[in-house]
Amino acid sequence: MKYGYFDAEHKEYVITRPDTPAPWANYLGSPEYGAIISGNAGGYSFVKSGANGRIIRYRFNSVMNDQPGRYIYIKDRENGDYWSASWQPVGKDLDKYRTECHHGTAYSRFVSEYDGIESDTLYYVPLNKTYEVWKTKVTNKSDKPRKLSLTGYVEFTNSGNYEQDSVNLQYTLFVSKTYFRNNMILQAINENIKGHAGPDDSDEEGRGIWRFFGLAGSEAAAYDGDRDTFVGKYRDYSNPRSIENGCSNTLNFNTNSCGALQADIELAPGESKELVYLLGAYAEKGAKEIMAHYQDLSVVDSELEELKTFWHAKLNRFQVQTPDDNLNHMVNTWNAYQCFITFIWSRAASFQYCGLRNGLGYRDTVQDIQGIMHLDPELARERLTLMLSAQVNNGGGLPLVKFDHRPGFEKTPDDPEYGAETGHPAYRADDALWLFPTLIRYVKESGNWAYIDEVIPYANKEEGTVYDHLKRAIQFSLDRMGAHNMPAGLHADWNDCLRLGAKGESTFVAFQLYMAYNVFIEIAERKGNKEDVAWAEKLREELSRTLQENAWEDDQFIRGFTEENEVIGSRTNVDANIWLEPQTWSVLSGAARPEQAKLALDKVYEKLNTKYGAMVCYPPINRDGHPVLLMSLFNPTTKENGGIFSQPQGWLVLAETMIGNGNRAFEYYKEINPASMNEDADVRAIEPYVHGQFIEAVDSPFYGRGHVHWLTGTASTVMVSLAEGIMGVQPEFDGLRIDPCVPDNWTEFSMVREFRGKNLNVQVKNPNGVQKGIASIVLNGTPIEGKLIPEQLLKAENDVVITMG
Ligand code: GLC
Repeated sequence: MKYGYFDAEHKEYVITRPDTPAPWANYLGSPEYGAIISGNAGGYSFVKSGANGRIIRYRFNSVMNDQPGRYIYIKDRENGDYWSASWQPVGKDLDKYRTECHHGTAYSRFVSEYDGIESDTLYYVPLNKTYEVWKTKVTNKSDKPRKLSLTGYVEFTNSGNYEQDSVNLQYTLFVSKTYFRNNMILQAINENIKGHAGPDDSDEEGRGIWRFFGLAGSEAAAYDGDRDTFVGKYRDYSNPRSIENGCSNTLNFNTNSCGALQADIELAPGESKELVYLLGAYAEKGAKEIMAHYQDLSVVDSELEELKTFWHAKLNRFQVQTPDDNLNHMVNTWNAYQCFITFIWSRAASFQYCGLRNGLGYRDTVQDIQGIMHLDPELARERLTLMLSAQVNNGGGLPLVKFDHRPGFEKTPDDPEYGAETGHPAYRADDALWLFPTLIRYVKESGNWAYIDEVIPYANKEEGTVYDHLKRAIQFSLDRMGAHNMPAGLHADWNDCLRLGAKGESTFVAFQLYMAYNVFIEIAERKGNKEDVAWAEKLREELSRTLQENAWEDDQFIRGFTEENEVIGSRTNVDANIWLEPQTWSVLSGAARPEQAKLALDKVYEKLNTKYGAMVCYPPINRDGHPVLLMSLFNPTTKENGGIFSQPQGWLVLAETMIGNGNRAFEYYKEINPASMNEDADVRAIEPYVHGQFIEAVDSPFYGRGHVHWLTGTASTVMVSLAEGIMGVQPEFDGLRIDPCVPDNWTEFSMVREFRGKNLNVQVKNPNGVQKGIASIVLNGTPIEGKLIPEQLLKAENDVVITMG
């Protein structure tokens, strides 16, 4: 079943059937003021923290799925019939109710029509603002005058703290009140208390925590500030009492607060009326200023334009036109937008993440940076600097970087306080090693070579140049080696479900370290640090020998060793006898010999591939748990326990392009491209325009179903595999290499790419149907030698013609 389509021109996904198999979401604003909205206007908002700054309530995992949300009810005051501007919560019969939800770049728009009344409702957070706007335009398309009432509705939390609001009812029910003033519902929490520490605003005397919900464009004819009165006894959001009978001007005292503002309007045939609802965590003074800004409603149009211009300009730095529309939709809009969302929001808030992770996971964040590198290298640099400042002076990364991170003053996993505060009692083996691929991509993208010498503090004490940080990251692994002289797996490596411990070893981390040596050697050579080059080359050689001696088994790499010297991921094991991460990383790191690369990737294809992507290991564990293999916690076929874990799919695609298999790389990409599932959306369930964390694998009764939408490292790995692997755009210190690896039936494709402030219009021709290889490059009419387009030859605008062969 199909529920919508991609509108490439407007960079939107348009939901045409609102009864999607799961709430299909969009992200508005930023964590300064964050809003999540589904295709039925369900969702929530928060200020600064999804866990502590929640202002709209949302009931996760409840039977009334995807409620509440940002509702606008429309009622015909003559016949009493009513519906909502989004299909839910009233849920009219879809034969009579026509609706489209346009999820765009940081806005969502609902165009609905019922009984001759069209509503066009736009939700967004203005750029760099900390409140949200709901604008609705209602048009009478019937041939008689109509009397309507429009009621905007929001259910407030009684505490910004999500857990307190949900469970501590003996307290939170008795601290909130609402008022109606100046066409707004104002909610006060702890109204008598001065100097609270929350993100919400307080009044002019510094008292209370305040939120507002206001109406611009019409006087409120009636209001409610008490949720239970609004909904009415034994009713729900599909049939609230205050919609059936009209709002009753009842305010909250000692139960639950809401904002409901009813506007009564009359429309002649063909006539339209616009209203704006505004919501934010402001006390009266700030709220009135915001309301004043919307006295002229046309400000909404300019704010929407501003948002589109902002986002489209970012995304337009890399646009492709290939024979595969589904790939184009993802590279040009959705995968790119998801990369920004994961970068900005980390794992803060979604319909699964309730906001309780109050910080940035080290490995996730350093990987997320790669996804936006080609679109906004400066933004990438800022975050990279933060992450370098979260490296402990022993070279390891802090597993969780708190939102209030203070470089130079942080406790570390060596201090019991850190574990108690963050829930991360120990180092993970991979964290700081992610810096290498991310940092080298930054320097090569930006050309900012001086960054290598920038001095950045360590998390706990001391400071050092970026170069020094890299050296210490290597040292961290060298100081924690196991019996085979491979890096220890510690509390986890990339795989959270693999606890190899202080002496058990991880081949995945060994490959990461191998890549780290490569990157370090490249940088040290360029700096002319011969001793360091020699040091790292020797270590690389030793590691290579170790891997060859201990980690290769006929046609695959093993996953590691336990402290008891048991082999994980051996081909002779009963469970999990082949793993995806080491096979892909053996290639990405350059540690696999060419014949091993081919054998290992063929093995993946043979043993792990499914029609929805490659499983992370196989067979899943389906019996007694194992102390090291924590994934046996999960149902077999699920998540790390043999699920089609999405993040490594990008590694797989990239690895195949590195060995020149364009056909197979693209086959894998098609399997996991969300857009490929647009026609089969019931199987995938989650959005066909964003990646999720994993897909249930072959032996699941729900094979192909996706989970944990939006906030996943998949966005960045897959984007890198598309940009650098399939499209082949690989920045180098001195220029740009464009070396695509494509299916052999792509005869022609093109792309536009910004590189260090210069624009390139690239045409690629593939007359002989090869998968990889460059026969010639013509830059601005002149053939160039070699495969690299030198930076110094680039003008402001450039035409590049590449012929593969
Ligand atoms: C989740 C975590 C990520 C981890 C992955 C594999 O996606 O956020 O940190 O690498 O699972 O376990």
